[in-house]
Amino acid sequence: MTTQPILRVEGLTRRFGGLTAVNNLDFSVQKGELLGLIGPNGAGKTTSFNLLMGLIKPSSGEVILDGERITGLKPHRIAQQGMVKTFQNVALFPEMTVLDNVLTGGLLRRSLAEAREFARENLAKVGMAHIAEKRAADLTFPEKALVEMARALSTQPRIVLLDEVMAALNHAEMDQILDLIRKLRSEEGLTFIVIEHHMRAIMSLCERILVLSFGQKIAEGTPQEISRNPDVITAYLGNDMDAGAHA
Ligand SMILES: Nc1ncnc2c1ncn2[C@@H]1O[C@H](COP(=O)(O)OP(=O)(O)OP(=O)(O)O)[C@@H](O)[C@H]1O
Ligand SMILES: [Mg+2]
Repeated sequence: MTTQPILRVEGLTRRFGGLTAVNNLDFSVQKGELLGLIGPNGAGKTTSFNLLMGLIKPSSGEVILDGERITGLKPHRIAQQGMVKTFQNVALFPEMTVLDNVLTGGLLRRSLAEAREFARENLAKVGMAHIAEKRAADLTFPEKALVEMARALSTQPRIVLLDEVMAALNHAEMDQILDLIRKLRSEEGLTFIVIEHHMRAIMSLCERILVLSFGQKIAEGTPQEISRNPDVITAYLGNDMDAGAHA
């Protein structure tokens, strides 16, 4: 049985002056899929996520979430429709507690009291209930990553966009996040698109990977197909794919 994709992107393009950061991007994602999005620094990965979430406007192209066109909607409307993203290099409120940070996600659909309760549930789900009262500024990198996940879950998403949540983590810490993503997919049917420079993580997690280079999709396939694709290898020349180096 073929089903309608949960997300469909058609001809998505964004120019910044003379630079085309995302160039005529087409792809779709099935419900429950774990899709990887990779490419060298500056390839247009974060810009693609920002376009999907309505944080910036496309120069052209369409984004269709569960059959509904969401192109040009405001980010909070898109979040209400069930898509959420984490931010690269950010973005908890440092002076707020973990609980209050996670709670902000829940206010999208709930009263303050209900959002607080739901925040506690989601912190427990990611194994971080014990740090609810800690100040976000005092968290370790793996704690931050898990709290970001809990905050994303508090918006009650159907599809989650993760922008380098595993940067700065060691292998064991990364495995913890990977297991959590797998669990959320299998137990709650969540769909993920994951931007990650750590090749080991992306190759072990994702069933399918899209590769961007200079804003264009240059390859799409299974991890095996991607890792032996000559265009991908050329795009990464100078970058060490295995080390997952991030300049
Ligand atoms: N607001 C902006 N104004 C001008 N140029 C921008 C803007 N945002 C991104 N760019 C440019 O668009 C290109 C794509 O950037 P983007 O951040 O999407 O890359 P990325 O694939 O996420 O890279 P990285 O792996 O380093 O995070 C880069 O050349 C970047 O400098
Ligand atoms: Mg980026």
